[in-house]
Amino acid sequence: MPLRSLHAAAVLLLVVLKEQPSNPTPLNGSKWTYIGPDGEKSWSKSYPSCGGLMQSPIDLQDDILQYNASLVPLGFQGYSESANQQFVLTNNGHSLKLKLPKDMHIQGLGARYNASQLHLHWGDQNEPHGSEHTVGGKHFAAELHMVYYNSDLYPNASIAIDKPEGLAVLAVLIEMGSFNPSYDKIFSHLKDVKYKGQEVSIPGFSIEELLPKRPEEYYRYQGSLTTPPCYPTVLWTVFRNPVEISQQQLMDLETALYCTGVEDPSPREMINNFRQVQKFDERLVYVSFRREVPDPAYTGPSLGMWPTGRACCSWVITVILGVIWACDSSSPPSLLLCAITLTPDPLLTVCLTLRSLSDSKMSCQSNAPLMNDVITL
Ligand SMILES: *[C@@H]1O[C@H](CO)[C@@H](O)[C@H](O)[C@H]1NC(C)=O
Ligand SMILES: *[C@@H]1O[C@H](CO)[C@@H](O)[C@H](O)[C@H]1NC(C)=O
Ligand SMILES: *[C@@H]1O[C@H](CO)[C@@H](O)[C@H](O)[C@H]1NC(C)=O
Ligand SMILES: *[C@@H]1O[C@H](CO)[C@@H](O)[C@H](O)[C@H]1NC(C)=O
Repeated sequence: MPLRSLHAAAVLLLVVLKEQPSNPTPLNGSKWTYIGPDGEKSWSKSYPSCGGLMQSPIDLQDDILQYNASLVPLGFQGYSESANQQFVLTNNGHSLKLKLPKDMHIQGLGARYNASQLHLHWGDQNEPHGSEHTVGGKHFAAELHMVYYNSDLYPNASIAIDKPEGLAVLAVLIEMGSFNPSYDKIFSHLKDVKYKGQEVSIPGFSIEELLPKRPEEYYRYQGSLTTPPCYPTVLWTVFRNPVEISQQQLMDLETALYCTGVEDPSPREMINNFRQVQKFDERLVYVSFRREVPDPAYTGPSLGMWPTGRACCSWVITVILGVIWACDSSSPPSLLLCAITLTPDPLLTVCLTLRSLSDSKMSCQSNAPLMNDVITL
């Protein structure tokens, strides 16, 4: 064999070897994962929506929250009837999933939304912080999602999934605390669905038991599925108050399941099945509740809105202007006027007006108690 053709064969072989990895087979429906080469950074290669707009989950932080009085309490219909039925619990390779009866639905979202399924997201034993939504940057231990579809517009969840106003999800944040007998009605069957594809029928119970205290307090925003295909079709309701499950219950959830089938030679534990929080530019989260005053010692009137952004800034300016004016009797009355117009707070206005009525020739020294009042407001 001439040297030249040997050389050509070697080059061909090299090219073939080199071509293979640069031509990866596309991901299949269930191939996506949370870590490794098929982890969330790669989702958008096979599922373009994952790299698109309106993605979930998000961090629920003060700057993007807006109180909205039109957010009424939701009606949970058919939840207790669910006690008479059997539920099917499944390990779908990504989460623990419970099929919900169709006569369960929510009212209060404009359209009627029939129930489809619920599932959970969690962390691992060493980092038991696996909620998807975070509040002020803080993860909760786990998160439950109840998925509904718009049954006024669509015949079932698989049709609704990529359609406008197709889905609604109720999210329950879960923290470590005391034993939760209601959640145990699911968790006590973990051993029967250890591997992907396994399913078991479990006795029905009232799904309403899984909801937290005061479900009328919630966050509301427009977002997406948190798993591929990440369609931006979800109306999110994240309940403000978490539910508690015990440390043992959480640990059972974090250690019982596998993403892989029973015969898989390289088993993968089902852990950390939560997506990172997504960008939230140009969006607002409406909240159905007014925030309580954080400091119990605070007895002043409430701002009547979130003390963020402008409100917070005007407070600071008001206090500074008030102090300058109170300390310097030679400062012009216009400074007081300016302070009063900037403040949204009636009590401070009254204080400053009282001060203006008091002897304006008093020195700063003798005004010290009043100044302290202004500062601690
Ligand atoms: C995708 O699915 C097809 C058929 O279900 C299967 O033959 C193929 O091997 C899968 N590909 C990957 C990358 O999993
Ligand atoms: C309150 O929320 C509704 C949707 O639930 C929205 O249409 C409305 O514009 C919001 N109101 C304000 C003042 O943002
Ligand atoms: C939604 O649930 C109600 C009550 O069970 C049922 O009558 C209706 O047919 C359901 N809608 C769809 C689209 O299945
Ligand atoms: C959903 O509805 C469509 C259209 O009616 C039907 O073809 C499909 O089989 C249904 N899917 C499921 C999962 O029921």
